[in-house]
Amino acid sequence: MIHPSAQVDTDQIGSHTTVWQFAVILEGAQIGDYCNINCHTFIESNVIVGDRVTIKSGVFLWNGLRIGDRVFIGPNATFINDPYPRSKQHLECHELTTLESDCSIGAAAIILNGVKIGHHALVAAGSTVTRNVPPHGFVKGNPARLVGWVDVSGHPLRFEDGNWRSIDGQIHNQFPPPENSDM
Ligand SMILES: CC(C)(COP(=O)(O)OP(=O)(O)OC[C@H]1O[C@@H](n2cnc3c(N)ncnc32)[C@H](O)[C@@H]1OP(=O)(O)O)[C@@H](O)C(=O)NCCC(=O)NCCS
Repeated sequence: MIHPSAQVDTDQIGSHTTVWQFAVILEGAQIGDYCNINCHTFIESNVIVGDRVTIKSGVFLWNGLRIGDRVFIGPNATFINDPYPRSKQHLECHELTTLESDCSIGAAAIILNGVKIGHHALVAAGSTVTRNVPPHGFVKGNPARLVGWVDVSGHPLRFEDGNWRSIDGQIHNQFPPPENSDM
C-alpha cells in the first residue's frame, strides 16, 4: 500500500510494503518486502533496505546506507553521510553505513558515516554512534559505548554470578565478561 500523499519515484519496492503519508522515496532506492515506512520519511537513491524493516517517522535515509532484514529504526534517528559538510559542495561518493539484519536503532540516535552496526545490536535512544558496534552489542551514550549485550529479543543481558543471562535466566556465554571487553 502506498498512501496517495507519498511520492515514490522508485519502482524497486517489494510486495506488502506500506508507505505512509508524506514519505518521499527517490528513484533508484531499493526497498524490500513487508517493510513499514512511516509518515514523514525520506529515502535517497543510493539506499538499499532489506525485508520486514520498520522505519519510524522523521527518519531520513541518505545515500550510502545499507540496511539488512528486520531492522528497526526509531523515530527521528539521524544518519550522517558527509563528515565535513559545506553548503553546495556535494560528495561524489559516500562511505557505506551498514545496519546488519535484526539490529534496532533507538529514537533520536545519531549514526555517523561509515559505521557498521552488527546484527541484533541495540542502540539506546539518543546515543551518538561513532564506532562499529559488534553483533548483539548494546551501546549507549554520547559517544556511544558498549555497555553490554542483548539477546535476539532485543533485551539487555545481565551479568550475574559470572554469566551473561537473559531475563528468563538463560545463559549466553558467547559474550566476553565485562572485564575482557571494551566496557
Ligand atoms: C537503554 C534502554 C534499552 C534501557 O536499557 P536498560 O539496561 O534496561 O536500562 P535501565 O532502564 O535499567 O537504566 C539503566 C541506566 O541507563 C540509563 N539509561 C536508560 N536509557 C538510556 C539512554 N537511552 N541513554 C542513556 N542512558 C540511559 C538509566 O537512566 C539508568 O541510569 P542509572 O543507572 O544512572 O540510573 C532504553 O532506555 C532505550 O533507550 N531503548 C530504546 C527505546 C527506543 O528508542 N524505542 C524507539 C521506539 S519508541
